This record gives sequence, C-alpha cells and structure tokens, in this order.
Amino acid sequence: MEAADVVARLRAAGCVFAEDEARLLLAAEVPPAALDALVGRRVAGEPLEHLLGWAEFCGLRIAVGAGVFVPRRRTEFLAERAVALARPGAVVVDLCCGTGAVAAAVHAAVPDAEVHAADVDPAAVALARRNLPGGHVHEGDLDAPLPAALRGRVDVLVANAPYVPTDAIALMPPEARLHEARAALDGGPDGTGIQQRVAAAAPRWLAPGGHLLIETSDRQAPLTAAAMERHGLVARTVVDDEREATVVIGSVAAVDEPEFLRRTRDSYDAIAAEYVGYVGDELPRRPAERALLRWFADVVGSGPVVDVGCGTGRITAHLHGLGVDVSGIDLSPGMVEQARRSYPELRFSVGSMTALPLPDACVDGLVAHYSTIHVPDDELPGALAEFARVLSPGGHALLTFQVGDEPLHLTDALGHPVDLLFHRRRPERMAALLEAAGLPVHAQTVRQAEDGERTPQASLLARRP
Ligand SMILES: C[S@@+](CC[C@H](N)C(=O)[O-])C[C@H]1O[C@@H](n2cnc3c(N)ncnc32)[C@H](O)[C@@H]1O
Repeated sequence: MEAADVVARLRAAGCVFAEDEARLLLAAEVPPAALDALVGRRVAGEPLEHLLGWAEFCGLRIAVGAGVFVPRRRTEFLAERAVALARPGAVVVDLCCGTGAVAAAVHAAVPDAEVHAADVDPAAVALARRNLPGGHVHEGDLDAPLPAALRGRVDVLVANAPYVPTDAIALMPPEARLHEARAALDGGPDGTGIQQRVAAAAPRWLAPGGHLLIETSDRQAPLTAAAMERHGLVARTVVDDEREATVVIGSVAAVDEPEFLRRTRDSYDAIAAEYVGYVGDELPRRPAERALLRWFADVVGSGPVVDVGCGTGRITAHLHGLGVDVSGIDLSPGMVEQARRSYPELRFSVGSMTALPLPDACVDGLVAHYSTIHVPDDELPGALAEFARVLSPGGHALLTFQVGDEPLHLTDALGHPVDLLFHRRRPERMAALLEAAGLPVHAQTVRQAEDGERTPQASLLARRP
C-alpha cells in the first residue's frame, strides 16, 4: 500500500492527523497484508498507540497494549511536576500506574530514585513491568499491594487515577470509550471517587515534607484539593494551559516549619514562571557581579559548589559556564522547576538553607545570591551555621544582598499577590554574623544602586578556616 493510500483511508475515516499517523504506521515496517490490517483496525476506531504497541511520553517510548489506558500528552505535566519535587534518591510511588508511564519518566529523570508503581489490572501491571525495568511494580487495589516498608517514606506520590464522571464516559471519543478499560476511566458520580481514596491513603505513605500529586480536570480541581485538605495536606493547584492539564499538589505540612518559609515558598511558587524573564537580562547588565563570580570561580577551582536559593538557576548556569561543578538548591519547587527547564544539563533540588539537604563538608564553595534576604534576623545565624557545616575546610562562601536597615514588604509582584519580606542588612553586621558562624570574611564590596535597584548592594566573600 502506498503512503498516499494510507493517508486517504485514514482521512476518509475522520483521522485528524492522517499524515502523521500514516507515517508512524508505515514506519512499523510490517508486510503489506499486515499493514492493510492495521489501517483497517485504525479506520474501525482502535487507538493508534494500541496498533503501534507504543506511545511517546516525556521523550520515552512506552509500551502500550489492548485494554490498557494510553498515556496522554497532558499527563506529561504531572510527570514533570513530580520530577521537579523529587530530589536525587527520592522514593516515588505511582498509583493507578497503567502502563507505568509517569513512573518511567520519573525514573529516567531523577538520579537514584527508588520508584514503585501499582495497578489493580494485571494487563497494566505486565506493561508497567516492561516500562520500568529498574523499578518495583505491584499488583492490587490502590495502595494495598505497596510494601509496608514504604510507610512514611514516600517523598512523591503521584496518581493519574480515573477521573471521568460516570455519566460523561458516554460522551468520550469511541477510541477511549471502547478500547480502554472502563475501570481506567470511571471516576464515579462526580469523577473524584478514586481521588478521594488516594487522598485518604496518602498520609500513611508520605514522608515528612512529602507531596501527593493528582491529575484532575479544571472543573474537579476544587474537589480534589478539598479531599487532600480533609486529610491534612496543604493543597495547591497548578495548570498548564497549552496541554489543558491540571494537577493538584498536596504537601505534608511540616509541623514545625516556620511561617516565613511557607510565605516565601508560596510567593516564589506564584511568580516562578514570570521571574525567568524578569531576571533574564540582569547579569549581563552587572559587571561588578560578573567580576565577583569570576573571582569566586577562581578561588573555588572546579568545585563542587552549591548555589543556595538558586531561583531560576541563572547564577548556577553562569558558574557552570566558568568551569565550576555546581548544583542549585531552592526552597521553591516552582523555581526549581523553572531552573530545570532552562538548564536541563544541571542539577537542581528543593531544600531550605535553614536545613540544607547536604552532608557535612561536602562543597568547596557556596553562593547565596540574594537569598539570605528572605531569612529573618533570628533565623539567620542558623542558616549561616548550615553554610559553615556543608563547606569543607578552606571552602569559600559568596553572599550578595541589598544594603539597608528597613525591610521591604512586597504584597504584589509580577502580577501575582505575594507576601515577601526582603531583609536589607549592613555588610558589617552580616560580616559579624558570618564570623560568629565560623566563616571569617576575607573580602567585602559595596556598590551604589544601579538602574532598577533601590539600595546599594553588598557582596561578602568568607572562608572556612
Ligand atoms: C531574589 S531570588 C534570587 C534567585 C537567584 N539566586 C538569583 O539571583 O537569580 C531569592 C531566591 O531565594 C529562595 N529562597 C528563599 N528562602 C530560602 C531558603 N530558606 N532556602 C532556600 N532558598 C530560599 C527563593 O525561593 C528564591 O528563589
């Protein structure tokens, strides 16, 4: 069969992407009779992915099969959000995993992650085992088959559980309605029946600071969020307009987390996407900062270096460009996601400078570029002690911050309501605090405000003896 014939048959059957589908079917390189049969089955309404035996998801080829839910492009958003929240070595669980596409994407993107997936359907479990050779796939109802050893240890729990309201299934395209298991679609009367069960189960499994991520529809998101809140999670909804994807993230509220961390995190999460453009041209306009970073790169050599409060990763990337082995840590998962998106070759993770997720004496350099500014006076000594703890003897810290006495309180930034305090400080005071933390200051610069700035700017280079 010629390519043009395949396209014509698919188009006549109403396939919107007839050319693309024809290209994929022809690329399967099956004998002419088999190709004819495949085109016939497609014309009769079978999902293209079932005929090909695979679907593309987050750049991976995911094995799919008859009766099992085909991973959707929209669900890549769920996988990306899960990756953004999972630091290296994280324990990640994908419930209602179907083909295991989300688990496979996390497995591919998060170094050393311990990935588990579970599904009640044996056909799905068989496919997930193929898609997740390095993971653990369990068969059974919802979380029932998970090993008890995971209780309280799961950092990221994801679920793209069925969420189509029962009455809406009849309105779905025949491809899904007739060729995917009903149990993979039906979310009960309001669509959130299974999501409610996942939210109820999550607190058993989540680690302190862990997160539950559930894909949902924009209409159902308030119900999904309410279910999480009923079970003690702090819920927020994130949306990707382009893929029409909605994910509700429920986080375990750290009982002893200071209020300032929550306010700072929520504020930066809200502005993260716009912040990339806002600071994008900043460094090219600041020769003093570039000179200091150059100096810092020279004294730390190849590193390793950590950029604490890395935000969108622009300073991390600049240091990387100077030949430094550098990774970034930030309090805001939203900022970390932007950093990973902009610099996929670099390592970024979520964490707070008040309790750095790093071993003692593991870095030769530490940068805190306008990030200590969000830590109040009474918490600052603790954060600086963390800087000293993770620096190896002889290691250097470079801190940059606004000079002043009064804090600035922003309630609106980049078009979003925020609650952000910027603590301006005198360099002599910061130097004294660094010294008290075991990091005597070696050099100190103050420059006047330049365009767009409200105060002079200070940089201190300190060294652990
Ligand atoms: C003004 S932005 C600067 C970002 C980046 N260093 C830069 O210069 O582009 C401040 C960053 O500090 C982060 N941050 C604030 N408090 C933090 C904390 N306790 N631990 C880690 N990061 C924090 C914020 O989430 C935000 O990304």
